[in-house]
Amino acid sequence: MKISSSKRLTIVGKTGKGKTYLLRNLLIKVLSRTILILICDIKHDYHRIREMGKLETFNFDLKSGVFRYKVQNEEDFRRFNKVVWQRVSSRKNRRVIVLFDEISMYIGNNQLAKYPFHKKMLLMGRAYGIGLWYAIQRPALVDKSILSQSSYIISFQMDDLRDLSAISAYVNPEEIRKLKPFWYLYYDDSADKVVKHAPV
Ligand SMILES: Nc1ncnc2c1ncn2[C@@H]1O[C@H](COP(=O)(O)OP(=O)(O)OP(=O)(O)O)[C@@H](O)[C@H]1O
Ligand SMILES: [Mg+2]
Repeated sequence: MKISSSKRLTIVGKTGKGKTYLLRNLLIKVLSRTILILICDIKHDYHRIREMGKLETFNFDLKSGVFRYKVQNEEDFRRFNKVVWQRVSSRKNRRVIVLFDEISMYIGNNQLAKYPFHKKMLLMGRAYGIGLWYAIQRPALVDKSILSQSSYIISFQMDDLRDLSAISAYVNPEEIRKLKPFWYLYYDDSADKVVKHAPV
C-alpha cells in the first residue's frame, strides 16, 4: 500500500476494528518523508507518540516533528483548525500531515460550514502540501465531502446500512459487511481500484 503524504486519507470502520492501530503504523512509515505531523488527538490514543518528541502546545515552531494536541471540546477543535491553517498556509516548504482521529465526535452531517478553517483545509489544503488523515466510525454521520475529497479510502468492517450506503460509491458494501476483524479494503482513486488487505 503506497501512501502519498500530501493526499487525503480516510479510514472508516466500526469501533475496535483496527483504525487507530493502522493509522499509527502508517504514521511511522511516512515519518521520514514528512516535515510535520499534527495530530488532533480527540480520544487520547496517541500518547505513545510522545516518544517521537512532540509538544503538547499550540506554540509550535512548525519546523519539523510530531505534535500531538489533546482536544477536549469543540472550542479546542476550532482553535486547532484555525492555528494549523493560519500557520501552515503561510509556509513555503510544506510536507504536513494533519490527522483527525475521531472526527465524527465534532463534525456531523453537512456541518462543515460550522468549521470554516477545517473546511479550508479540506478543500484547499492539498495546494499547500497538507495531507489530511481521518478516522471515522460512522461515515453516514459525517459531511459527505470528507469522503468525496479523499484520495485513499480504507474500510474496515461495518454493518450499519446507512454507513454501508455512505461508502458504496467507493467500495463494495457487501464485501465490507463480511470483513473479518483487522482486515480492510483499500481504495485508491488514482488507480481506481480496490485491494483487500490482511491485518498489518
Ligand atoms: N492488525 C492488528 N493486529 C492485532 N491487534 C490489532 C490490530 N488492529 C487493532 N488491534 C487491536 O484491537 C484493538 C482495537 O483496535 P483500534 O483501537 O485500532 O480500533 P479502532 O477501529 O480505532 O476503534 P475505535 O473506533 O473505538 O477507536 C486494540 O487493542 C488494538 O491493539
Ligand atoms: Mg480508534
